[in-house]
Amino acid sequence: MTHLRCSVTGCGTTLDLHDRALACPKCGDLLEVVIDQPQADPNALKHLWLSRRASYDPRDTSGVWRFRELLPDVYGPTGVVSLAEGNTPLVRGQKTLGFAGLNALSFKHLGWNPTGSFKDLGMTAGITEAKFVGAKAVACASTGNTAASLAAYAARAGVVGRVYLPAGQASANKLAQALDYGAEMAQIEGSFDDALNALLNANDPDLYFLNSINPFRIEGQKTAMIEMLEQLGWEIPDYLVVPGGNLGNSSAFGKAFIEMKKFGLVERVPRMVIVQAAGANPLARMWAAGASELEPVAKPETAATAIRIGNPRSWKKSLQGVRFSDGFVLDVSDEEIGEAKDWIGRDGIGCEPASATTLAGIRKLTASGKIERDAKVVAILTGHVLKDTEYIIKRRS
Ligand code: F0G
Repeated sequence: MTHLRCSVTGCGTTLDLHDRALACPKCGDLLEVVIDQPQADPNALKHLWLSRRASYDPRDTSGVWRFRELLPDVYGPTGVVSLAEGNTPLVRGQKTLGFAGLNALSFKHLGWNPTGSFKDLGMTAGITEAKFVGAKAVACASTGNTAASLAAYAARAGVVGRVYLPAGQASANKLAQALDYGAEMAQIEGSFDDALNALLNANDPDLYFLNSINPFRIEGQKTAMIEMLEQLGWEIPDYLVVPGGNLGNSSAFGKAFIEMKKFGLVERVPRMVIVQAAGANPLARMWAAGASELEPVAKPETAATAIRIGNPRSWKKSLQGVRFSDGFVLDVSDEEIGEAKDWIGRDGIGCEPASATTLAGIRKLTASGKIERDAKVVAILTGHVLKDTEYIIKRRS
């Protein structure tokens, strides 16, 4: 039976799937969903998933629920809250190749989701569970994208959405989105970390909590990796490069790789590389120092506001995937991010600043010889070009 378990190896505490605890009652660490080995064999599953692209069943038109054999799948055809998320393309780099120092590079553009960011993949799963347990109100702290996504999915589910934002720090575009979808908004003085603490300390039992420490969010986000490998004909790239903020996304991708290997869907996995902004880089620092505990950055600072986060909650989960895949972590400066973003724009693709950390990181890694020119690399783009228009106007004027 699909259930919740403490994510720390060795703790072993288990809970019912629908328990609303946010942390392990024994050791206080994050929880994860344990998925059972699917009934169908790997090839049959791959065919089934692909065949669903020709179906108009609402669960099949979602690029998340299409992969429901690897999700908590207890909601039935009418229980799922979806905006037909996922189904995002792999776009080949053209002019970016020279900048990247690679012969082949693809961008998996998760910014081409319904609310313009990868958050929709996790949000459909989180809100679906919230509705299942009867929540009347859902909440998150956010640098903007989670807020926009939560607001849209809460509207679809007919529940109240409440978002906590660091005052004056989220882009106007993201604020406007959350307002348009009807969310209640609290602006908190300080950083994202302060907004998250304010929400957690409010300890309101009526609020269903939807930051990425919610294990259901991670389940939905996982499917980006299944879809990516499907699009590559199940040929495994050498590297997957991901931006790192609160580290939910990399945690999800790592879990996807661990499960796909365990269930026999793949024989090997790409090396997962996490790229942080230099002013908000606690995991990159920890990695460089070979330390065993994360030291938060007290005053995170970067123009890539989506990842201006000093105390990422999912760092242990995220490192599980980095280690499993023989990956690594690095950081890039704001100027490197800006330059990489310009090139993604010149390719006609576009993205928000936080997404461009991936291309900036790749350039650094090929320049130092850590990634070879003929490596097959996929870079994740997390947010749409229109997510932070002020950044672009400022940079180009
Ligand atoms: N890229 C974008 C565009 C984001 O919005 C975020 C996170 C990340 C990367 C980092 O992902 O946190 O899973 O490591 N945005 C969150 C938010 C924190 O509130 O919208 P992560």
